[in-house]
Amino acid sequence: MQQDIPFYVLILFFLLIPTSLVSPLYDGPLYDFTAYTECKEKPEEPLYGGGILKSDQQSPPAVQDNIVSSYVVNNIYVPSLVLHNLTQGTIYTFSAWVRVKGSSSAMIRATLETEKETYDCIGTVSAKLGCWSFLKGGFVLNWPSNLSIIFFQNADGKDINIEVASPSLQPFTKQQWETNQQYTINTKRKRAVTIHVSDSNGRRLQGASICIEQISKEFLFGSAIAHTILGNVPYQNWFVKRFNAAVFENELKWYATEPDEGKVNYTISDQMLQFVRTKNIVARGHNIFWEDPKYNPPWVLNLTGTQLQSAVNSRIQSLMSQYRNEFIHWDVSNEMLHFDFYEQRLGSDATLHFFETAHESDPLSTLFMNDFNVVETCSDVNSTVDAYISRVKELRRNGILMDGIGLEGHFTIPNPPLIRAILDKLATLGLPIWLTEVDISKTIDTDSQGNYLEQVLREGFSHPAVNGIMLWTAYHPNGCYQMCLTDKNFKNLAAGDVVDKLLQEWKTGRVEGVTDVHGSYSFYGFLGEYTVTVNYGNRTTKSTFSLSRGQETEHFTITLSSNS
Ligand SMILES: *[C@@H]1O[C@H](CO)[C@@H](O)[C@H](O)[C@H]1NC(C)=O
Ligand SMILES: *[C@@H]1O[C@H](CO)[C@@H](O)[C@H](O)[C@H]1NC(C)=O
Ligand SMILES: *[C@@H]1O[C@H](CO)[C@@H](O)[C@H](O)[C@H]1NC(C)=O
Ligand SMILES: *[C@@H]1O[C@H](CO)[C@@H](O)[C@H](O)[C@H]1NC(C)=O
Ligand SMILES: *[C@@H]1O[C@H](CO)[C@@H](O)[C@H](O)[C@H]1NC(C)=O
Ligand SMILES: *[C@@H]1O[C@H](CO)[C@@H](O)[C@H](O)[C@H]1NC(C)=O
Repeated sequence: MQQDIPFYVLILFFLLIPTSLVSPLYDGPLYDFTAYTECKEKPEEPLYGGGILKSDQQSPPAVQDNIVSSYVVNNIYVPSLVLHNLTQGTIYTFSAWVRVKGSSSAMIRATLETEKETYDCIGTVSAKLGCWSFLKGGFVLNWPSNLSIIFFQNADGKDINIEVASPSLQPFTKQQWETNQQYTINTKRKRAVTIHVSDSNGRRLQGASICIEQISKEFLFGSAIAHTILGNVPYQNWFVKRFNAAVFENELKWYATEPDEGKVNYTISDQMLQFVRTKNIVARGHNIFWEDPKYNPPWVLNLTGTQLQSAVNSRIQSLMSQYRNEFIHWDVSNEMLHFDFYEQRLGSDATLHFFETAHESDPLSTLFMNDFNVVETCSDVNSTVDAYISRVKELRRNGILMDGIGLEGHFTIPNPPLIRAILDKLATLGLPIWLTEVDISKTIDTDSQGNYLEQVLREGFSHPAVNGIMLWTAYHPNGCYQMCLTDKNFKNLAAGDVVDKLLQEWKTGRVEGVTDVHGSYSFYGFLGEYTVTVNYGNRTTKSTFSLSRGQETEHFTITLSSNS
């Protein structure tokens, strides 16, 4: 039985086999993906038994439920945790259960203050009266700290009575964090395969030589492209060599396809679609509507009531019939956690109507929400993870079956344990999660953009609930949105080098071997499609197989036809 095998044995097993790492037994902490989004009568036990907040290691001046001291912020007493001797560069995962009094609900933010720095938001939770809600987050310090404090405050700054229980602070070294990432990659992005070679009489053939090559990847990883790719062969070659997914930066947006009322023009988007189709690259549809009035066609801003309603209906029907079954996703109502242009004009159920109409126009389409400042930070009260989740649940209550969670991922300095904690909470919805517009702010120098990008991409790829990653790096000769991958000659910048390194790392290299006494050969491979060539004596056969996610070893049998 699987659960009888100690975890460290599994880890060792998975580490050794696919990467041939000569790894010592891993005895560090295993990341706990647990998250709760329902409000509970009683708090659960702390994750990691409290981690370094265990009462035998640290003894905060407890009041109830194993914390709580208090701390004065703006003359308000707030619950707090006192922490000693935190180290720089350590990845701290933090969680706690929170309940409020004197208000039916409140967005509660955890803040970390050290001698030198303040980390404004290390986690948030939408807490309620009368039941406990789960906050999950984390932080990485730039400087060591002898004495720090985590305190809990109403995000809107108003005085409120906050109770905290079952806090947990679990440190991971960088190495331990990477081991945990590798563990997920080995178990979720790869799979064990055994190839059996036999002759046409079913006899297993020992000593057959096998050559396996990965020809496609299951994990969708790509970038935005712009109309600048049309006719630009160097750009096209650079792109096609790397990516299996694309999104059009602006060319499907309403202002692009119908700049003047009634003059719908899909020439450019058709050409871009034609390009990706011929290269077997899939594309996300971005976007049908954008709630930010700034990015609507000017003529739409002048419409109200039935005029706007009918413009909206034609937009959905026109777009979805032009591109039926062409795009793998549609971002239906972009950035609805931050803006509400259509709700303002058409009433509170405008978005509901968008989803319904999109679904009717193309029943097989996959409909996404898409927003920023969800994984990037927790400081934006409009787009906290709980705000996102409650919006999805609200749509569901109204009969809208959302198909996917889009997280833009426009980062400045990423906070890896916070990213992971937020993904854990979103994963409770059971929907595919995509990072849809990943980049690092242009305020960061080019080399650091590369480093930060690598952190983000590794978090995404090593989270089991993430199904795809898109970069927001459409190339423009006079500068990309925030971050370019290449210079104007399509020579990589630091961020482009990171992408190439990871593309290589997340791919099975050529595998060669010989079948054993049972006529079998086993290996670990990244999910995707493969060709396998078998040579036995003077016989050769070439076939293909496809590896998709699963816990068990996948078996394939290859039969060599007899000589005749
Ligand atoms: C923190 O470190 C100092 C200096 O190494 C040590 O004296 C102190 O006991 C430590 N505090 C705790 C709570 O571990
Ligand atoms: C922490 O304590 C050590 C040893 O007492 C001291 O050298 C260091 O300056 C202190 N750090 C801070 C940030 O106060
Ligand atoms: C549609 O757009 C294309 C590309 O911008 C342009 O060449 C063409 O003239 C447009 N068609 C109409 C009817 O405006
Ligand atoms: C919007 O309405 C204003 C005032 O009626 C008018 O001046 C303007 O030209 C209109 N804009 C568009 C793009 O139709
Ligand atoms: C949050 O959304 C509201 C309503 O759309 C808006 O007025 C407010 O400025 C937004 N706040 C932030 C921090 O984006
Ligand atoms: C293949 O090898 C077998 C013996 O190993 C031999 O009998 C046969 O003629 C060979 N076939 C060809 C096409 O060379």
